Amino acid sequence: MTAPRASARPLGTVTRGTTNPNRLRRMDRWIAATHGSALRRAPFPVAVDLGYGAAPWTAVELLARLRTVAPRARVVGVEIEPARVAAAKPYEREGLTFRHGGFEVPVPERPVLIRAANVLRQYDEAEVAGVWARLCARLAPATGGIGGGFGGGFGGGLLVEGTCDEIGRRHVWVALGPEGPRTVTFATRLGSLDRPSDLAERLPKALIHRNVPGEPVHAFLRDFDRAWAGAAPYASYGARQRWIRAVGDLTADWPVTDGPSRWRQGEVTIAWRALAPRP
Ligand SMILES: C[S@@+](CC[C@H](N)C(=O)[O-])C[C@H]1O[C@@H](n2cnc3c(N)ncnc32)[C@H](O)[C@@H]1O
Repeated sequence: MTAPRASARPLGTVTRGTTNPNRLRRMDRWIAATHGSALRRAPFPVAVDLGYGAAPWTAVELLARLRTVAPRARVVGVEIEPARVAAAKPYEREGLTFRHGGFEVPVPERPVLIRAANVLRQYDEAEVAGVWARLCARLAPATGGIGGGFGGGFGGGLLVEGTCDEIGRRHVWVALGPEGPRTVTFATRLGSLDRPSDLAERLPKALIHRNVPGEPVHAFLRDFDRAWAGAAPYASYGARQRWIRAVGDLTADWPVTDGPSRWRQGEVTIAWRALAPRP
């Protein structure tokens, strides 16, 4: 467990610091639901909010939401812009600290969670694979067998990297384990949606330039729009019922990895292998 030297220059580039209170609530809730037990069981339940921006709200909220499922969880906000670290310091409290740093992730422990929201969007697509590999290498390793969910095992840390709009109504993120990408989650406020492909503008950097004919993510959004149109009769019961029906139809052709309890929240998660860009 070697932490990067504190004196090393942070890896990455300062970018716009735009953030908003409650912007990442959908991502926080998904993390708490899907990764809460890993945080609960980890000996050092450290979560990193990487690139928290010009104000510390997302880190403060992440701690509050993680603590509902993992009372020992700690959050470290890491930001590459030193003035933003200084501005966040007054908000430190039990379980919450802020540090200057970048993709080297300057914390002594191997994090059980690294969350990078609206950070890679401002980098080049060609940089994503290298950044993912670097961040995945910092995650806590799996113990007790693949999947880790049994006999006290641990499936390893999780990197959640994605993008949303200014007020968090539309969100798409990739979840990666120590071994690499696992899933892609689409999450939305259903009342704000004309059709599922509205989410295309919030695809993470690895996918946003691939929403073109011939690429899997384009075919997925096309099929999702078709399923949504086919589920139009359910609209009279509300957008939620229409979404649940449309996602249920998608399962015939796409590897949906979650179920109705998540679909009800306006989410759907797909195996990464089905959406990965063509080489
Ligand atoms: C658009 S803000 C996002 C703020 C917050 N995560 C959100 O979603 O509301 C992006 C922030 O990431 C920071 N950033 C960019 N590259 C970084 C890196 N390599 N390490 C740490 N922070 C980084 C920028 O300085 C900026 O403050």
